[in-house]
Amino acid sequence: MTRYVQQRTSLFLSFLFLLFPSVFSQLSSNQTNTMMSLSRLLNLSDSLWYSTKDPCSWKGVRCSSGSSSVTGLSLSAFDLSNSNFLPVVCKIETLQDLDLSNNSLSSISDEFINDCGRIDGLKLLNFSKNLLGGSLPTFNGFAGLESLDLSFNSLSGNVGLQLDGLHELKSLNLSYNNFTGPIPVNLGNPLLLEELQLSMNGFQGTVPQEIAKYQNLNLIDLGSNHLEGSIPTGIGNLARLRILLLSSNNLSGEIQANISNIPTLYRFEANSNGFNGTIPSGITRYLSFLDLRYNSLRGPMPTDLLSGPNLQLVDLSYNLLEGAIPAKLSKSLVRLRLGGNRLSGPIPPSFQALDKLTYLELDNNRLTSEIPPQLSFCRKLALLNLAQNDLTGPVPALLGKLSDLQVLKLQLNNLSGDIPSEITRLQLLLTLNMSWNSLTGSIPSSISSLRRLAHLNLQGNNLRGGIPATIGSMDSLLEVQLGDNQLNGTIPNMPVSLQIALNLSTNLLQGAIPETLSRLRDLEILDLSNNNLSGEIPESLTGMGSLNQLILSNNQLHGVIPDFKPYVSLNASGNPGLKNKTSEKLARKKGRQNGVIIVVGVGAFLLVSFIFFLLLFLSEPKRDRTRTISFQR
Ligand SMILES: *[C@@H]1O[C@H](CO)[C@@H](O)[C@H](O)[C@H]1NC(C)=O
Ligand SMILES: *[C@@H]1O[C@H](CO)[C@@H](O)[C@H](O)[C@H]1NC(C)=O
Ligand SMILES: *[C@@H]1O[C@H](CO)[C@@H](O)[C@H](O)[C@H]1NC(C)=O
Ligand SMILES: *[C@@H]1O[C@H](CO)[C@@H](O)[C@H](O)[C@H]1NC(C)=O
Ligand SMILES: *[C@@H]1O[C@H](CO)[C@@H](O)[C@H](O)[C@H]1NC(C)=O
Ligand SMILES: *[C@@H]1O[C@H](CO)[C@@H](O)[C@H](O)[C@H]1NC(C)=O
Ligand SMILES: *[C@@H]1O[C@H](CO)[C@@H](O)[C@H](O)[C@H]1NC(C)=O
Ligand SMILES: *[C@@H]1O[C@H](CO)[C@@H](O)[C@H](O)[C@H]1NC(C)=O
Ligand SMILES: *[C@@H]1O[C@H](CO)[C@@H](O)[C@H](O)[C@H]1NC(C)=O
Ligand SMILES: *[C@@H]1O[C@H](CO)[C@@H](O)[C@H](O)[C@H]1NC(C)=O
Ligand SMILES: *[C@@H]1O[C@H](CO)[C@@H](O)[C@H](O)[C@H]1NC(C)=O
Ligand SMILES: *[C@@H]1O[C@H](CO)[C@@H](O)[C@H](O)[C@H]1NC(C)=O
Repeated sequence: MTRYVQQRTSLFLSFLFLLFPSVFSQLSSNQTNTMMSLSRLLNLSDSLWYSTKDPCSWKGVRCSSGSSSVTGLSLSAFDLSNSNFLPVVCKIETLQDLDLSNNSLSSISDEFINDCGRIDGLKLLNFSKNLLGGSLPTFNGFAGLESLDLSFNSLSGNVGLQLDGLHELKSLNLSYNNFTGPIPVNLGNPLLLEELQLSMNGFQGTVPQEIAKYQNLNLIDLGSNHLEGSIPTGIGNLARLRILLLSSNNLSGEIQANISNIPTLYRFEANSNGFNGTIPSGITRYLSFLDLRYNSLRGPMPTDLLSGPNLQLVDLSYNLLEGAIPAKLSKSLVRLRLGGNRLSGPIPPSFQALDKLTYLELDNNRLTSEIPPQLSFCRKLALLNLAQNDLTGPVPALLGKLSDLQVLKLQLNNLSGDIPSEITRLQLLLTLNMSWNSLTGSIPSSISSLRRLAHLNLQGNNLRGGIPATIGSMDSLLEVQLGDNQLNGTIPNMPVSLQIALNLSTNLLQGAIPETLSRLRDLEILDLSNNNLSGEIPESLTGMGSLNQLILSNNQLHGVIPDFKPYVSLNASGNPGLKNKTSEKLARKKGRQNGVIIVVGVGAFLLVSFIFFLLLFLSEPKRDRTRTISFQR
């Protein structure tokens, strides 16, 4: 019915167009007809294309000024799966842009190459996000094509000469396909290509030296392929390069010092490779973004590495870098990640100048001496991670001035002194981890002013005194780790928000396990082991629906262990006064069974003996008598 109406409407419209084409547009009757047949083939709903207005106002149709010809067609996300409309599109000789992205087209036919290849004015062809498979077709013709986007398809095989005829090509995107073989070096006119995206394929071999011929390149993305070898020296000759992305390959050797010659280069990413040399001096001269994480870069960092005047992001984490953190630091730094190296020496106080610094990660190194209080001048800091170093001395009270701080990780150092109460002014703090240090004193009761805190980890210190009762009001907490300290007193009320774990193990806590813990409906792990807790295990704990691990070992608990759900892993050993209900029941049952066995056994023995004697004396009297006689002998 709808189709019938559509057909009738389109026939009617075609008729009107033929009679009075200028009423609707100044499109030639040829193009009007072409558009009409296209609309029929595309099965579009009335609202999109079957309007009485001229085709130039249809969705996705662009016309020249004066509406004399169709110059652009964007059929992106039109739900197209059948390619039969493509030859009709190729009749629009004035077409400049053709966007077919985000559909379900599965092939580019020879017919399309033939017909659309003749449109010299066609500048952009976008087949991104379709279901194209098979090998890359040879693009004959397309004399004016500047931009070809075939990304996000399933094209495979080598890229050899198929694109070499595209003499005007400026932008090529083959990312997210299944191409293999070497990086293509025949891509039309080497002096024109500006953007080359080949990431997320299976390209193999080395980064070809020939890439240096493409003097106009400003973007190279070769990430996530299987490339090996080193960066070609000629890369430094690409004087217009702005972005160079080589991440997730198998590249090795030195980072090419030549890239420091490219004044336009602002982003260089080569993370997750096998680069194993030292980092050359000068490479951040012009850079804003440098990402070399997950390589095997060794040796000390050049003293100028962090001082590039435009540097915003530097990520060198997980390499083999050693020596000191350079003291010359760029004021424009926003994100600095040096974790997972072998850096030693102190954290330079020159960080104080970095008023844009938002993320600072120096964790998992060999940094020594005290945390410089000057870090408190980095007022934008949202994340400070100094964990797993050899830092000593106090936690600077001045860190309480970092009012944007959300994550503070100082664990696994040898920090000493008290937890400064100034830390509890950090209103945005989500994670506070000072575990495994040598902190003393008590947990400040003002800790409850950390209204957003979700992860509190102070375990493995020498903290004394009681757990502040105010902790019960910290209703963002998901996790509390206070184990391995010398906390005493009783267990206060805990916030019902707890989910991940409540660990109070290995302290000096006394008194009973509070009934109120049973309100922690979402808590998964409760560890109260190695304390002096007494009294009975509250029956109500069996109602904690999410609990799967309950550790109560080595306390002074007594009474009978209540029945926990079978999936709760319970350890209550080392509580001499505690009776195991299940084992008691079992023992009683076993005892009864043993009784029965004994009764049955004794009965059977008696019965057999009785029958034996009966047989002895009754059924064979003579022989028995002789035997008796012989006995007597
Ligand atoms: C109209 O199209 C036909 C073929 O479809 C072509 O031969 C003819 O030259 C076109 N006319 C104009 C005015 O473009
Ligand atoms: C339009 O619909 C017809 C019949 O429903 C179908 O055969 C054809 O493939 C569709 N065309 C497109 C471009 O999806
Ligand atoms: C692709 O099309 C789908 C609908 O078909 C739409 O939801 C999505 O946003 C589109 N994606 C892009 C990148 O245009
Ligand atoms: C192709 O279309 C996609 C949207 O589907 C868009 O993200 C992409 O930028 C387009 N490519 C070009 C070269 O314009
Ligand atoms: C790429 O090819 C491999 C094997 O040849 C296949 O398993 C994989 O599904 C393909 N990926 C895509 C996106 O087509
Ligand atoms: C493909 O790469 C081109 C050139 O860099 C870019 O303009 C286009 O947006 C990319 N396509 C997608 C889908 O990202
Ligand atoms: C990297 O190269 C090594 C040998 O040089 C090889 O064993 C490994 O599989 C390669 N990895 C990838 C992701 O290609
Ligand atoms: C790059 O380095 C090579 C050798 O290291 C040198 O011959 C070449 O001139 C350098 N290129 C630029 C642009 O500096
Ligand atoms: C770096 O890696 C390459 C390739 O695996 C290897 O040949 C070379 O010896 C390595 N260099 C160093 C300094 O380890
Ligand atoms: C930690 O520092 C204290 C001095 O504050 C020192 O006595 C202790 O040996 C250090 N521990 C470690 C593991 O370095
Ligand atoms: C807890 O320990 C502190 C000293 O560490 C002591 O002053 C206080 O009396 C103790 N409290 C209890 C309840 O044992
Ligand atoms: C309770 O008894 C069972 C069975 O004998 C045993 O496996 C379990 O370890 C005992 N639990 C405690 C807390 O003693």
